[in-house]
Amino acid sequence: MSSAKRSHLAGWLTGKGIELGALHQPLAVPAGVQVEYVDRLSVADLRRQYPELASLDLVPVAHIGSAEDLADIADSSVDFVVACHVLEHIEDPTRALREIHRVLRDGGIFFCALPEPRVTFDKERQPTTVDHLVRDHANGSTSRREHFVDWVENVERHQPWWAEEPPDPLKRVELLLDMDYSIHFHVWRPDTFLDYLGAVRNAQGIEFELLDFAGCQPGVDDEFIFILRKGVAPVPVTAPALSNPWFNPALTGDAAPATPHPLGARQALRDTVRAGRVAAASVRAAGQRRLQRARSGR
Ligand SMILES: C[S@@+](CC[C@H](N)C(=O)[O-])C[C@H]1O[C@@H](n2cnc3c(N)ncnc32)[C@H](O)[C@@H]1O
Repeated sequence: MSSAKRSHLAGWLTGKGIELGALHQPLAVPAGVQVEYVDRLSVADLRRQYPELASLDLVPVAHIGSAEDLADIADSSVDFVVACHVLEHIEDPTRALREIHRVLRDGGIFFCALPEPRVTFDKERQPTTVDHLVRDHANGSTSRREHFVDWVENVERHQPWWAEEPPDPLKRVELLLDMDYSIHFHVWRPDTFLDYLGAVRNAQGIEFELLDFAGCQPGVDDEFIFILRKGVAPVPVTAPALSNPWFNPALTGDAAPATPHPLGARQALRDTVRAGRVAAASVRAAGQRRLQRARSGR
């Protein structure tokens, strides 16, 4: 995990939002940005699930529930959703994407960090296919046991502790199922994740526009990050500081939305200051042009 990469891309976040599954590593957000934490388990249950984190602080969980059902969060109510190393833990990520899309306001940001399988314990596993994800979602029930078998055979079996005292693989599967252990149900590379997003868009109408991306830097970190926007912007959004529709010359007055400012108060303030400077510069330029015309007698 590279905090520099995460911090850089966190610059896309403004206003109020939620982070799913932050656990002991909440995303550091810019000053003034407000975050509430969501997890499938309470802090007490997370402590039981992750005893290895006993010495670390966990975030306060404000909403307990699966990302597949964010029922207590209203439609279009948040400016952003963060999920770092969470989507791969979700049995039916299509349901989670639908929920993330539902709670985001139009133009809201989905900050999605995923582990890069080629440099993590998932390296022996096959990337999850789009067909698999579509089938699981359509069936309404996921191939839960199959995922745990894949985990035991292709992750745990390759860990050093397995060689020291190999457990019975089937018993191990049962134990993890009993514990409701949070395995990586799915495995994506950046390209296969984009295939999946395309399929979700085509089949479910869940539309995210890709705004930014940072790939894994082997040896430095183990993840890739997508910055996704709910819906497609009327003009390309290139960077947070340039994405104010009131100040984007490509937008006409008709196309600019009336209220509220989509990027939150801090961004609005930055943009207002910048717009003020530009306005002052154009007044100066107009004055100079008038002066030149007067001098040249035109
Ligand atoms: C590997 S930890 C990620 C911790 C942290 N975000 C990070 O970047 O390292 C996975 C987190 O996702 C949570 N989680 C797993 N399945 C979930 C689900 N269906 N809904 C919400 N949270 C879930 C886990 O409880 C845990 O807090």
